[in-house]
Amino acid sequence: MASKKSGNPHKALIGIIGPRGLIGQEFLSILERRRFSGDAVLVSTQPKGRGRVKFRGASRRVLGWEEFLSNPQPLDVLVCLAETPWSKRHLDKFFGCSGAIIDESNAFRMNPDVPLVIPEINGALIEKPPKLIASPNCTTVIAAMALAPILKQWSPRRLVIASYQAASGAGREALERFEKESKDFAAGKTIYSAKFSAVLAGNVIPQIGVLGGEGFTEEEGKVIAETRKIFDTADLPISATCVRVPVRRGHSVALWLELERPINEGLLPELYTQFEGVSLTPTYPMPAYCAGKEGVFVGRLRRDPVWPNGVSLWACGDNLIKGGAQNVWQIVDKVLSGGKNNGSI
Ligand SMILES: NC(=O)c1ccc[n+]([C@@H]2O[C@H](COP(=O)([O-])OP(=O)(O)OC[C@H]3O[C@@H](n4cnc5c(N)ncnc54)[C@H](OP(=O)(O)O)[C@@H]3O)[C@@H](O)[C@H]2O)c1
Repeated sequence: MASKKSGNPHKALIGIIGPRGLIGQEFLSILERRRFSGDAVLVSTQPKGRGRVKFRGASRRVLGWEEFLSNPQPLDVLVCLAETPWSKRHLDKFFGCSGAIIDESNAFRMNPDVPLVIPEINGALIEKPPKLIASPNCTTVIAAMALAPILKQWSPRRLVIASYQAASGAGREALERFEKESKDFAAGKTIYSAKFSAVLAGNVIPQIGVLGGEGFTEEEGKVIAETRKIFDTADLPISATCVRVPVRRGHSVALWLELERPINEGLLPELYTQFEGVSLTPTYPMPAYCAGKEGVFVGRLRRDPVWPNGVSLWACGDNLIKGGAQNVWQIVDKVLSGGKNNGSI
């Protein structure tokens, strides 16, 4: 049925739901940057045909999702870059249209039958691709990538995460709202409306998502649960504080990790040279440096005397790239290559 050309992922037909969102746009630019010579079918989260987007220099029509389903093209892979409520409500209608579906939202991440995948860490889970694969939250991806070289060597005993998350992590409307707030703030005007739980320009907001009964926010709950799932450490004590900061693009995390066994401090930097997708910087990465770049960047790697086998580090990554579209692309590439590639082509 589908058009996969004898295992060559770059000849595939990819369906993309939500191509006009921030992640959708970044995913299309990744396809343009890579040697992807297959084609893409663009499907809106709106039922009727809606506008056009630019792809490979041409203006391409975006089909409404009902329109696509009324005459579905057989797809090699479908990526869903929609918001969580849309995925929960409609994604199952697409199950017959594609061999594998990769969902970027929170809808299925904690479903025990759905692998939650960062290819460099647990890509083995999709060597035989299941029907549905989830890509993690942007902060989880950046924190997990930064921790992975150490956790490959030593088991964790506990972990504390503090995140500093950019406005674009909340989508296009939030980013545009923040840009408007920033202009008003710079002009000394009063800012009346806010997309976030408070005005973000000139501020930091220690709440992302709803604040739950136990004092943790929705975002903190996601980061904790997803990190445990990715590293297959269901009982690992993790605490998180997720903070929105007045940055356009690029999430940062401070990580405090206690390990089960004593660490060899001299070995720490070497672990990073051996791990694909994470670069250890001589000083420290920052969002202004990471924005627009693939991968995750780590700095301030040090022994932490607060805990017996403690390590502290700082990491940054572009939430829209490795935190979103790049991770999805790597999963697509691996699925279409029969489990071999890691998205590095
Ligand atoms: N932003 C991040 O850093 C990030 C990172 C990891 C995961 N995610 C997840 O990825 C999913 C997508 O996030 P996102 O940040 O891409 O959300 P977004 O920018 O808010 O886009 C979401 C939807 O809004 C519509 N939209 C956006 N801009 C539009 C425009 N100019 N005109 C018309 N419609 C427009 C799109 O509709 P169409 O369907 O018509 O294209 C798109 O599906 C969410 O589930 C999110 O939780 C986001």
